[in-house]
Amino acid sequence: MTSDRTIPFEELEELPIEALRGRRGTKWNRYPADVLPAWVADMDFPVAEPVQRAIAELVEQRDYGYGARTGEVSLEAAFAERMDRTFGWTVDPELVQPVAELIQALFALVLTFSERDDGVVIQTPIYPPFLTTLEQTGRRLVDNPLADDGARFVLDAEDLRRKVDDRTRMLLVCNPHNPSGRVLERAELLALAELAVERDMVIVCDEIHADLIYPGRRHVPMATLGEEIAARTITITSATKSFNIPGLRCAVMHFGSSELRERFRRVIPDRLLGQVNVVGVDATVAAWRQAQPWLDAVMVRLLANRDRVGRFVRDELPQIRHYTPESTYLAWLDCRALDLPEAPYHFFLERARVGLNDGADFGPASQSCVRLNFATSETILDEVLERMAEAVRARR
Ligand SMILES: Cc1ncc(COP(=O)(O)O)c(C=O)c1O
Repeated sequence: MTSDRTIPFEELEELPIEALRGRRGTKWNRYPADVLPAWVADMDFPVAEPVQRAIAELVEQRDYGYGARTGEVSLEAAFAERMDRTFGWTVDPELVQPVAELIQALFALVLTFSERDDGVVIQTPIYPPFLTTLEQTGRRLVDNPLADDGARFVLDAEDLRRKVDDRTRMLLVCNPHNPSGRVLERAELLALAELAVERDMVIVCDEIHADLIYPGRRHVPMATLGEEIAARTITITSATKSFNIPGLRCAVMHFGSSELRERFRRVIPDRLLGQVNVVGVDATVAAWRQAQPWLDAVMVRLLANRDRVGRFVRDELPQIRHYTPESTYLAWLDCRALDLPEAPYHFFLERARVGLNDGADFGPASQSCVRLNFATSETILDEVLERMAEAVRARR
């Protein structure tokens, strides 16, 4: 494995805010210059050297012809290798389909494995495009909200069992879960999967955050739960969240059986998906194969930031309900007890000049919540938190 000289968070502390604002990505451009953005799931950290080198090589060689990355250097092989090394999950590269992005995959899968008005299960609150996918394809939301057990959000298998009917065809699982940061335990996954087997539902598991697990938790890929479960599971993932390259548009779908793969092909021909951009492929392969030291360093920083948010909320904003995320760089904050004069998203945007994600987008019962992205420098994170606390103190 290539060593990586970058210690991203030290570099980041030296990265002036003007440089971040100078980026052309959505995170730093959505809001006016006096707003600190802590919303979309991009990290402010500079990307890993191996990723940068892979892109530089393409640029230096002006190598922009149609890609021919087969065998060892293919995205499929790099994915299979990483799943084996990281999770002990044996993947058949033949059952891997490259795509530009996870949400494209989600749309294509919902169109393939369900029909208009069929029920599709989701655990809310949820990453908003899950809901949009159902709305825009005319599928019926079968909402199985995560339950608050007083210490964290947990799967409510009984609620799900009551709600599934004969026209509930699919189960969309987000694990690790965005926005709660929960890493579902084997028993929780099994409860979901067993019901899927019993009711003949196809499972789609979004595991995009699986590399971002904090100490004490372990990610279990849905497709490792047994042959019968794997055979009805499509896993969708990418290197874009953990290695901070979402703009490069490269992801994979893994079909747990050739039968699922064939059913998919009958509805969505490969050419409809298009081919993945070679820049995204080379960057992803480099990230998965060579950038683990970078990710290890980032995780140290994210853990410190996660705990910083937790301590700050406990000490300065104790009315906010916040459970420590077990994964992701996202904090889910329920502001109900703050008794704010307006929805918390607008309150913090207008009065704190902090751009968060609006909880209302994450499901029917989340209007009182906001999502905060803490993948930034200590300085910026402190400023975000201070601004929020100050606005709350001044609210009356
Ligand atoms: C759970 C989850 N799935 C999918 C995505 C987006 O994936 P893509 O940009 O590849 O569509 C995100 C982005 O934050 C996410 O958090």
